[in-house]
This record gives sequence, C-alpha cells and structure tokens, in this order.
Amino acid sequence: MLVTSLVPVFLVLAHGIPSCAAAVTHVANRPSRHCSNNTLPSQYTITAYKKDDATINGLKVQGGGAFIIGQANVSSYCPSVVQESGGCPNGTQTALAGSLYPLSLVPGGQELYVDVNGAVRITVQHSHSIPPGAYPYYLGWTWTPFSSCASPCSRECPRDDPRYDCGAPEGYWTFKSPDEDVGGLYACPAEYNANATQLFARTPAFNQTGCAALDGLATHNYTGPSPPVWAY
Ligand SMILES: *[C@@H]1O[C@H](CO)[C@@H](O)[C@H](O)[C@H]1NC(C)=O
Ligand SMILES: *[C@@H]1O[C@H](CO)[C@@H](O)[C@H](O)[C@H]1NC(C)=O
Ligand SMILES: *[C@@H]1O[C@H](CO)[C@@H](O)[C@H](O)[C@H]1NC(C)=O
Ligand SMILES: *[C@@H]1O[C@H](CO)[C@@H](O)[C@H](O)[C@H]1NC(C)=O
Ligand SMILES: *[C@@H]1O[C@H](CO)[C@@H](O)[C@H](O)[C@H]1NC(C)=O
Ligand SMILES: *[C@@H]1O[C@H](CO)[C@@H](O)[C@H](O)[C@H]1NC(C)=O
Repeated sequence: MLVTSLVPVFLVLAHGIPSCAAAVTHVANRPSRHCSNNTLPSQYTITAYKKDDATINGLKVQGGGAFIIGQANVSSYCPSVVQESGGCPNGTQTALAGSLYPLSLVPGGQELYVDVNGAVRITVQHSHSIPPGAYPYYLGWTWTPFSSCASPCSRECPRDDPRYDCGAPEGYWTFKSPDEDVGGLYACPAEYNANATQLFARTPAFNQTGCAALDGLATHNYTGPSPPVWAY
C-alpha cells in the first residue's frame, strides 16, 4: 500500500543537508519511494530528540566534560603551547564517531561514559579512566535508524536560533543501564549551573529532579573540521 501522501517531503538543499519542506505535497503519478533504513554517519553531531516537544527537539548537545543541551557551540580546551604553534582545531561543534567516540586531537583521545549518577561525560584529556561503577561507552547504548522516507524533523524548529540544529537526523541513540532494568535519557538542570540544561541517562543511582524525558539523542552527519577540537 502506498502512503506517500502521509510521508513528510524532504528537500535536498544545495549544500546537501536534507531539510523539511514547508508543506507536504501529494504528488500523483510518481514512482513509489524506495525506503531504506539510514546508516549512522561516520562522524556526527547530536541533538535532543523529543518527538512531541518542539522547544526541546533539535536542541544541540555539546560536550565539554558534561554534555550541555541547547548550547550553540562546543566547550573546548587547547593548551597555550599548541595555540602558539597554530595547532588548535577551529571546529565549533561536538562531533562523535562510531560508538559515541568523541573526536578530539589530544594524544590518546578521550572517551564518553555514563557516570554513576547518570551524568553523561567525556574523560579528561590523555585519559580513558572512568569512575568506579560508571558505564563505559560500549555498555547500554543502542542506535536506531529512521527510515530514509520518514526521518522526522519539526517544522516548528527555530531555524535561525543557533542553539538548534533543524536538519533531519539519520537516527537516534537510546540508553538502557545494562545490569538493571532502568534506562532513558533526560534533560535536567545542570549540576554546576542551574541556568543550563545537562544530559543524563537513567542509571540505578539517578536521582535528578526537574528533568524532561527525551526520546533519545538524534544524530546528524558532521562535515566540519575533523577533529573539531583539541579536547572537550
Ligand atoms: C555525510 O557527509 C559526507 C561529506 O559531505 C558525505 O560524503 C556522506 O555521504 C554523508 N553521510 C551521510 C550518511 O549522509
Ligand atoms: C559560535 O561559533 C560561531 C562560528 O565561529 C560564531 O560565529 C558564534 O558567535 C558562536 N556563538 C556563540 C554563542 O559563541
Ligand atoms: C577553520 O580554519 C579553516 C582553515 O584555515 C577555515 O577555512 C575555516 O573557515 C575555519 N572555520 C572556522 C569556523 O573558523
Ligand atoms: C529498519 O530499522 C528498524 C529499527 O531498528 C528495524 O526494526 C527494521 O527491521 C529495519 N529494516 C530493515 C529493512 O533493515
Ligand atoms: C542564572 O540566571 C540568573 C538570571 O538571569 C543570573 O542572575 C545568574 O547569574 C545566572 N547564574 C549562572 C550560574 O549563570
Ligand atoms: C541524590 O544522590 C546523591 C548521592 O547519593 C545524594 O548526595 C543527594 O542528596 C541525592 N539527591 C536527592 C535530591 O535525593
């Protein structure tokens, strides 16, 4: 059965990023769409995915120790000695590869993990060590593709607001604590700045209050300088 009239129409803009069309048009006498599942881009940025809430959906999620939701640009660090030699990358967005690997230039790299209290964090530079009881990046996360014909993007997304990425995502990550029957991702007041919003995953010890449940973390193809930063 063809349901083309219900499928959102996407325009591929000149710069190659799919975007929602202003209106859904029904086009008769067109060959049927061949839908397939998207694949995870090799390098990607992340946004908050919340189907029914246009104020949260599409908010950028930026690394820098913890992950802050709704921040226009990445929080990064580059040592002055590297700066003086002109060696600091000039990316502005947090970019990840594969299974949530944070792309940074620092020798030895950095690693994403879920802290005991549920805070999603990136290890300090030169370190892959995570606190006892924290979940390493390879535990608990699942990426689910959107169909190439139905990748959701919200028409209400404020395109001119730099805190949002309104492009159509390829899919989304979800989290489930591997050893307990709890999971989910949340936008909560930030631990060290009540004015900011921070990404948490539900762990057994998660006890943040005033949070909004997310449907996941949407992924968007990253095409900026790579790696974008020296360290998060
Ligand atoms: C992501 O962007 C790169 C560079 O523009 C492109 O080659 C690649 O096909 C894109 N990947 C996806 C999954 O769209
Ligand atoms: C984010 O980065 C862009 C590009 O460098 C810059 O123009 C803009 O002012 C930055 N925004 C904020 C809020 O820092
Ligand atoms: C980063 O540097 C490259 C190469 O010098 C330049 O082309 C690009 O515009 C710069 N990007 C930003 C965001 O400053
Ligand atoms: C597409 O992805 C969904 C969700 O992961 C999965 O259930 C479905 O089997 C996939 N379809 C194909 C054709 O791979
Ligand atoms: C939070 O916002 C209030 C009101 O705008 C401001 O007075 C306060 O300094 C902010 N706090 C932080 C930590 O930024
Ligand atoms: C959450 O748990 C931490 C660590 O166990 C505890 O210090 C804190 O008081 C708890 N907060 C709430 C709101 O229950």
